[in-house]
Formats: sequence, structure tokens, C-alpha cells
Amino acid sequence: MNLLIDTHAHLNFKAYKEDGSEVIKRSLKNGVWLINVGAEWDTSKRAVEYAEKYPKGVFAAVGLHPIHLQEQEIKEKNFEVVTKAEKFDYEKYKTLAQNPNVVAIGEIGLDYYHIENDDQETKLLQKQLFLKQLDLAEELQKPVIIHCRNAYQDIIDILKLKIENRELTVKGIIHSFLGNYKQARQYREMGFKIAFNGIITFARDYDKVILDAPLEDILLETDCPYLAPAPYRGQRNEPLYVIEVAKKLAEIKKIPLEEVINQTTANAKKVFNLV
Ligand code: NI
Repeated sequence: MNLLIDTHAHLNFKAYKEDGSEVIKRSLKNGVWLINVGAEWDTSKRAVEYAEKYPKGVFAAVGLHPIHLQEQEIKEKNFEVVTKAEKFDYEKYKTLAQNPNVVAIGEIGLDYYHIENDDQETKLLQKQLFLKQLDLAEELQKPVIIHCRNAYQDIIDILKLKIENRELTVKGIIHSFLGNYKQARQYREMGFKIAFNGIITFARDYDKVILDAPLEDILLETDCPYLAPAPYRGQRNEPLYVIEVAKKLAEIKKIPLEEVINQTTANAKKVFNLV
């Protein structure tokens, strides 16, 4: 069986409070490795704890997601969360991120989707938080997992400036890529990879991006518990379903499934130094 890697899972979230370990065991048994990604302090810590429990195949990313800067209630289709407000503590995250099981700083980035009335102050706070965590990634020489919603240009501008100023040498991935093929090219030219999840199994908006990008620049993820791929839509997602994303990629690119699996797994191992 060929190994698949879910580069963005949240088995550290409440949705798996009862059976997180079962889901992990099921994934490993069926040849799926995974990175549990933190969104704030508690989930970052839990991601590391999970990774420490398994000698192989379970990794962690730690970071403070931009929506956790403010306390707010977010309600969307299949997605409901009350965020806690957290102030970013650089040293605290640095200590946690030095754990050898932590393969990336994430998820970090900008999320303008939930900002009301185009509030500039909140945008500025998000940018400051993003910059601090890019510095953390650079200090520890670990790649980043970037979350971006309605903020592609700002993220591209920030990364470009940091790279030009030689303040950022580490690379990483743009998780749950929702931009267009031109934006994808800009990221790829800077050395970043793009990751797709279940969205591509039910929305055709990204076919062009997928066709335009070489397989070497693409990674797979689930973003579980959210975004379950067809035919599991509406259910709780889990790392095993990453195969559906691989199948759809193979279909869109008209290449063998095995090639998609092998190449994306090699990509994930390379980006995150997974062994
Ligand atoms: Ni996520």
C-alpha cells in the first residue's frame, strides 16, 4: 500500500474529544500519516502531545490562527466555532515549537473573511501576528503552514518583502488553496507549495489552478473535521478520506492515481522533513 500524507488535520480539536486516538490508529493502520495543526495554544499543545504518543506517522504544527485574536462566534455551513481571544506569547510558542515532533509553524496567516466592515485595526493586528510567527519560523528554521482567506494579495506582499529583505528563508505551504492560478504561480515562484482538500471534489473552481501547477508543487490535506470530500459531504471528516482528494487530482490532471499519491507524499516529506 502506498503511503498518503494528510498535511492538515485537526484531530486535536473538540470534534475528536471522544475518539481522537481511534481515528489516528485507523489512519496509521491504513497507510495515512498526518500533521495535526494547532490554531491556538491549547490545540497546539494537544497536537504536540498526540505526536509524542506515536513513534511514527503523527506530527504537529503549532501556531496562533488569525481568527483567535478576537473573541467571536463564527457560524457557517457545517462550521461553528466560538473563538477565544489569545495574545501571542513568542517565547511560550518558541519553547513548544522546539519539540522535535513539531514540523511546522501553523496555522498562521490572514483571515479577512470574518472581519466586519473592513475593520483596518483588526487587519493590522492580524498582520503583526503573522509577521511575528514568520520570525519564529525563521528563528527555528521550520516551514510555515499558511491560512489565507480573502487576503491573498496582502500575504503575497508580506512574503515578498520578507524574502527580499532576507528576513525569510524558510518556505512552506498555502493550505486549503482558494485563490486563482495567477496567485498560485506567485506563491510557487517564491518557493511555496499549495495544498488542496475535499473542496476540489465538489467545486470546479480550482481545476484551472490544478492543471496549471506541476504535481511537484501540490500537497494533499483534509482540514478535518471540516470540508469532508464527496461522497462523505456533511459528515465529520478524517485523514483516511484524503484518498478522495488524491483521486480527484488524478482525474483532473488525467494521470494515474498512484503517481498522484507517490509524488504528493514525496512533496510532503520534503517540505516538512518527515521521517
Ligand atoms: Ni485548519
